[in-house]
Amino acid sequence: MILVTGATGRVGKEAVTQLRMAGEEVRALVRDPARASDLPEGMELVRGDLADPASLEGAFDGVDGVFLIWPLATAASAPAVVAAASQVKRLVYLSAHGAGGDAEGILGFHTAIERLVRASGTEWTLLRAGGFAANTLHWADEIRNSDTVHAPYAMARRSLIHEIDIAAVGVQALTHSGHEGAIYHITGPESLTQAEQVRQIGDVLGREVRFVETPPEQMRAEYVAAGLPPDYADAILEAHAAMITTPEPVTSVVEEVTGRPARTYAEWARDHSAEFGG
Ligand SMILES: NC(=O)c1ccc[n+]([C@@H]2O[C@H](COP(=O)([O-])OP(=O)(O)OC[C@H]3O[C@@H](n4cnc5c(N)ncnc54)[C@H](OP(=O)(O)O)[C@@H]3O)[C@@H](O)[C@H]2O)c1
Repeated sequence: MILVTGATGRVGKEAVTQLRMAGEEVRALVRDPARASDLPEGMELVRGDLADPASLEGAFDGVDGVFLIWPLATAASAPAVVAAASQVKRLVYLSAHGAGGDAEGILGFHTAIERLVRASGTEWTLLRAGGFAANTLHWADEIRNSDTVHAPYAMARRSLIHEIDIAAVGVQALTHSGHEGAIYHITGPESLTQAEQVRQIGDVLGREVRFVETPPEQMRAEYVAAGLPPDYADAILEAHAAMITTPEPVTSVVEEVTGRPARTYAEWARDHSAEFGG
């Protein structure tokens, strides 16, 4: 039995689907079972809130492995959650590129949870993922409405990763031995500027989609208006500015672990073309 948290999210939904296809027993931790109606059939749903460890009582009973996806921007409840999860054999934690060591700021919660996972006594594996291709869905409304993306830093380079590949590495680590103690830096297969990403979405849609460079302050105001804490907005913009001169690295971990090359950004855009108005 493998328990997946964040099971209705991008990576979690892929993980439960792949685990079911591999014939594994799956338990999905969800806050609201009504929102889990499109998860695959034949799996258990257990209600629980990662911010409220008391709500997880019994969730880990009979579980052999946990795919821990942490949707909260704080590690406050993590000591109790990881302590409860440490009764399992294998624990895979979805962390982020740059976490670990003394990384603080917006990565601080990942660094803190990595420490807990490493001390848990389980056969742990850390997935330090680079930027998700799914982040670019925040361009979807604008592309659907005007075939345009207004954003700063057209030349920031990322090696965006498909959620299917993140889930696939986690599923492999949960279902096969040999991944215990591994820290996997997982990325997509290529480094693309934001302008190239937008062009590739246009190629998939068969329309020209334009990238219009805007001042970072404008994006910051939009982030804050959308509810992002100002220091979080600043950190995201600083990270993108830095990716102009220091692109995200490209690794071959997806292929090494799963035996299949990581999906390209164009493949991801094809899989999500409907969300961009295709
Ligand atoms: N975006 C990136 O570029 C990037 C890069 C590296 C790492 N990451 C990490 O990836 C993780 C997010 O993965 P994702 O994008 O697949 O998630 P997501 O699509 O944002 O989904 C979040 C999931 O968490 C659930 N959830 C939210 N609050 C919860 C709570 N209090 N208790 C239990 N479940 C809760 C949501 O379920 P309901 O709302 O249905 O309850 C949903 O299933 C984060 O830890 C992030 O830091 C992201």
